[in-house]
Amino acid sequence: MKNLSIGMFDSGIGGLTVFKEVKKLLPKEHIVYIGDTARLPYGNKSPRTVTNYTLESAIFLLTKGIKILVIACNTSSALALHILQKKLPIPVLGVIDPAATEAVRLTRTKKIGVIGTKATVNSMAYQRAIKRLDPKIDVISQSCPLFVPLVEEGLEHDKIAHLVADKYLNRYKKTGCDVLVMGCTHYPILEGVIKKTMHKGISIINTGRETAKQVKQTLETKGILNEKGKGGCQYFVTDSPDTFREIGGRFLKEPITNIKFLKSLDYKDFLLSS
Ligand code: DGL
Repeated sequence: MKNLSIGMFDSGIGGLTVFKEVKKLLPKEHIVYIGDTARLPYGNKSPRTVTNYTLESAIFLLTKGIKILVIACNTSSALALHILQKKLPIPVLGVIDPAATEAVRLTRTKKIGVIGTKATVNSMAYQRAIKRLDPKIDVISQSCPLFVPLVEEGLEHDKIAHLVADKYLNRYKKTGCDVLVMGCTHYPILEGVIKKTMHKGISIINTGRETAKQVKQTLETKGILNEKGKGGCQYFVTDSPDTFREIGGRFLKEPITNIKFLKSLDYKDFLLSS
């Protein structure tokens, strides 16, 4: 069991910010990552569509023999985590609870900002997670839909990124928030811009970093942490591996190899051929 892979899912490339943190913390683990690049973005799709797509990828990863599933996508975590945890025979972790736990630990003003996709913000999943831990905390959310394309276009250092950040985040300066959760896979790439736009002293939470700690803790608790493995990764994508290689390489700051194109997420094919 210890030698099995960690399965990781995202709507596309952004989940590599979570992947990077897990790989850093658990270098001996093998990770199978799937990015549903043909159907991204999930952030502006309906809960039903996001849930269906997420289930398909999760089932595909199960056919790869994984010991834990990490839903790296905030939108999928917000909308589909619950059903996956109920239906899958292995531990399933999302990115929302780990980030919410750290945000609650850090806040002194009891006001937490959360930024994410429209679907994540509309789902109120962060509100629920934070209020479960401390009902007195106010959560002030803001969707930032232009952040995802900005990052994918490689414009994180361009002045347009500062203009967009200013437009979305200016309001936080008056809310009294002392913690801001970057509730979307792409936002850590914009962390510098976000930090510059926000008031000094605000704590910025990287959901990937918090999730990685939770993955380690879960593997330890279950006695399935791989301490002797060689590490490694295999990527699957539902659209062009070239685009994933190019943009993903920027996310990871290292070349990506070992990418396989998946023609279909119809898991029956894989079950029959395995
Ligand atoms: N991975 C998504 C998230 O974290 C962002 C990209 C998308 O909208 O698909 O919410």
